[in-house]
Amino acid sequence: MSVEENSKIYYITTPIYYVNDVPHIGHAYTTIAADVVARYQRLSGKEVFFLTGTDEHGLKIEKSATAKGLTPKELVDDVVKRYIHLWQVLNISHDDFIRTSEARHHRAVHAFYERVKAQDSENIYLGHYEDWYCVPCETFWTEAQLENGNCPECKRPAERVREESYFFKMSAFQQRLLDYLEEQPDFIRPQGKLNEISGFLREDLRDLSISRSSFSWGIPVPDDDSHVIYVWFDALINYLTAAGFPDDMERFAKLWPADIHLIGKDILRFHTVYWPTFLFAADLPLPNKVFAHGWWTVEGEKMSKSLGNVVDPETVVAEFGVDAFRYFLLREVPFGLDGDFSQTALKGRINSELANDLGNLLSRTVSMVKKYRQRIIPAPDCDSAHYQEFAGLNDEVRREVAMAVNDLAFHKMLAAAWRLVEKCNRFIDEQAPWALAKDESKAAELDQVLYCVLESLRLLSLYLNPIMPEKTRQMAVQLGQKSPTEQSGPEVFTWGRLATGVEVVKGKSLFPRLE
Ligand code: MSP
Repeated sequence: MSVEENSKIYYITTPIYYVNDVPHIGHAYTTIAADVVARYQRLSGKEVFFLTGTDEHGLKIEKSATAKGLTPKELVDDVVKRYIHLWQVLNISHDDFIRTSEARHHRAVHAFYERVKAQDSENIYLGHYEDWYCVPCETFWTEAQLENGNCPECKRPAERVREESYFFKMSAFQQRLLDYLEEQPDFIRPQGKLNEISGFLREDLRDLSISRSSFSWGIPVPDDDSHVIYVWFDALINYLTAAGFPDDMERFAKLWPADIHLIGKDILRFHTVYWPTFLFAADLPLPNKVFAHGWWTVEGEKMSKSLGNVVDPETVVAEFGVDAFRYFLLREVPFGLDGDFSQTALKGRINSELANDLGNLLSRTVSMVKKYRQRIIPAPDCDSAHYQEFAGLNDEVRREVAMAVNDLAFHKMLAAAWRLVEKCNRFIDEQAPWALAKDESKAAELDQVLYCVLESLRLLSLYLNPIMPEKTRQMAVQLGQKSPTEQSGPEVFTWGRLATGVEVVKGKSLFPRLE
């Protein structure tokens, strides 16, 4: 690896969330997934920059602020607190929280706009944008959104309007993007999403309207403050702003291109068509990967305010605990596919996988060390068959976990870890330590049985730490080991590093069974 590659910081992002909505399970999902990757990379010894934030401009915000007698800034300052609070509740370890209303972002959008124009003055031009407009709702709609020519919200007729707008010459970059997708087939993941975008690019790309003059809550267009920059030419730039563009280009060089943008499938096109063409136009490298995950329904239905079934993550966490919630979201559905959230499924997994398989394994092991070894963790015998067998299994698990995280296959990451959980539970039943303990001549064997299970549990506290940071910390305490977050480096996942001669500490049950 060259020195340059070495100094690259692992950079991962979530979308920036609209503040006109309250945070729900969908927002929590992307952020938790990104948090797991960030935590895993840190644990493996990488320097990580994990970014999340909020998307705060636009007509909707301006309108709801007016309705509440607030300025847009007052409104967003208030709503953003909900996101900040939720990320605390969910134990999210982001390194930065970007808000598009910040001055650093204003500077970045201006610098980016100027840079795009400096590459080619025709990249941005003044034209006219035509669409359907509902006067009472003061909202623009596309033809496809209308219902029989009427506004989909108030059902009154919409009017055709023509507004002056700046355009980004997206069409000029279509072929370059197509070529890029051929050369870098891993840029869009999962594979199905790449096919979707390749298909979309078979049609002619239209230029993109990037400004509005019908409202003012936004970043003014440089040299023409009768317009504000519109949505994606503002929002997407956040990924550059937080990396130091344009204020600290030295830092920017260490961070950009981002290693991965995690997004939901609904914003795939913006991230894999708009964003790459913007970056081409600015002569900046593209992010390494964009991964689009699926959507959650709730108890079989689409989440919606009108159905009143929007899942508030804080309520779920208050009832079931944050780590069980994080575990469920990543275990229930392969990342990339759609999934359904239900309390029955959540409780089922808590009772069987977390309480029975994992929690019980920890508690029975700690109890045995307490009872048969006066709490003291025995030393290993590296030549013993058990030691060798477990070390071999762990090698496989370590590789499987690394591959799974690299592919964002969290369910596989957990399946790999569960190979250790299941092996230990079987092993204890087979070896029957309670029988070995009765026979003085089996003392060395009992030591090895306990050692192998304890060492597996230590490794599990590391493999599972990115997904369940708090419970794995408690595991490490009960095992008398260093906290997972106090360690990092590729070697942390190797077999045989258990601290021995130290005392286990019997604690409360990790996951009490639910009725
Ligand atoms: N502000 C834009 C993103 C700009 S990124 C430069 C936006 N915000 S959003 O708040 O509407 O949505 C953010 C994320 O939440 C998206 O990735 C979206 O897929 C995700 N989800 C919203 N509802 C969801 C579900 N029901 N299920 C899973 N994720 C969902 O789009």
